[in-house]
Amino acid sequence: MRICLLGAGRIGRLHGTLVAAQSEVDEIVVADVDPGRAAETAAAIGGRVAPTAEQAMEGVDAVIVVASTDAHAGLVAAAVERGLPTFCEKPLAFDLPETVELVEQIEARGAVVQVGFQRRFDPAYREARRLIESGELGTVYLVRLIAHDHEPPPDTYIPVSGGLFRDSSIHDFDALRWVTGQEVDEVYAAGSVRAFPVFERYDDVDTGAAILQLADGTLGVLSQTRHDPLGYDVRMEIVGSRDAVTVGLGQQTPLRSLEPDAPARAGPAWQTFFTRFETAYQEELLTFLRVARGEIASPCTARDALEAMRIAVAAGLSRSEHRPVRPMDM
Ligand SMILES: NC(=O)c1ccc[n+]([C@@H]2O[C@H](COP(=O)([O-])OP(=O)(O)OC[C@H]3O[C@@H](n4cnc5c(N)ncnc54)[C@H](O)[C@@H]3O)[C@@H](O)[C@H]2O)c1
Repeated sequence: MRICLLGAGRIGRLHGTLVAAQSEVDEIVVADVDPGRAAETAAAIGGRVAPTAEQAMEGVDAVIVVASTDAHAGLVAAAVERGLPTFCEKPLAFDLPETVELVEQIEARGAVVQVGFQRRFDPAYREARRLIESGELGTVYLVRLIAHDHEPPPDTYIPVSGGLFRDSSIHDFDALRWVTGQEVDEVYAAGSVRAFPVFERYDDVDTGAAILQLADGTLGVLSQTRHDPLGYDVRMEIVGSRDAVTVGLGQQTPLRSLEPDAPARAGPAWQTFFTRFETAYQEELLTFLRVARGEIASPCTARDALEAMRIAVAAGLSRSEHRPVRPMDM
């Protein structure tokens, strides 16, 4: 297979490396608006550089969009116009109107698109979904979503990210929908700049919280920070009538218990999304290669990305207007 990689930054390098390691991939063509980055990544993964995205897409079998968020919609639209199966990192587009327009285009063409919500491929998130689906958890009372970055992203990333809820919490919103099988009816969110004034410059926050009411009455509670001194802490806790379970609590969880009988952490804590979700990213990309070959349907569609974006936009509006907002009204 010949694969086009659009974007050669942090996650572009990771996805390029994962795809390059697959025996069925014969060639990777890399394009980035920063030619130096494209050259560096192409050299690292054994790919070749194309001067533009359009040229990179010529003659390939599938496209992987890992450019900055504000470039997603244009690049995905161009790939879809060419009839190419496309993987796009989250979020699918920068804002809601762009997402709606793109999803309409994708669905009208019957295009094959997979969106990068990698938690759907993490074994513990999958088990959580199975436990709810099978009824083993009983009635689900509450889902706690915890997303604490170790270090904030680079300053240049912030203005093109879409803000905390659209950039980061969108993973939790998708996981909440996917694991519970429920839509979010209403969200109330708050945010604060606690330590990194650069976020204020872009009307963004470094700390956020949200209460989410699901269609069946289950409550979701989100806790989100851009900095955690101990590491990268992403968890989901579910309390049901028959069991209480947690995802992401283990020997590498960056959390220090103050209880004297708690086991000491054996090794280093997770520091980045790269290590925390290593196997999930790998499984996600292997799945996309199968999707691109037409063997299976996309496990995370453009429509899923739109629903997650609606929740993220509702959370942003709720934060700025200090009121509950219904995603379906967005
Ligand atoms: N799923 C995840 O866990 C995860 C983690 C990190 C980032 N992401 C997503 O991946 C995307 C990239 O994030 P990153 O951290 O790698 O950012 P980054 O800033 O490190 O890299 C983005 C790259 O895109 C390039 N670029 C910008 N416009 C382009 C265009 N029109 N054509 C080609 N290249 C273009 C930039 O020059 C840069 O090299 C973002 O959308 C982000 O939300 C997802």
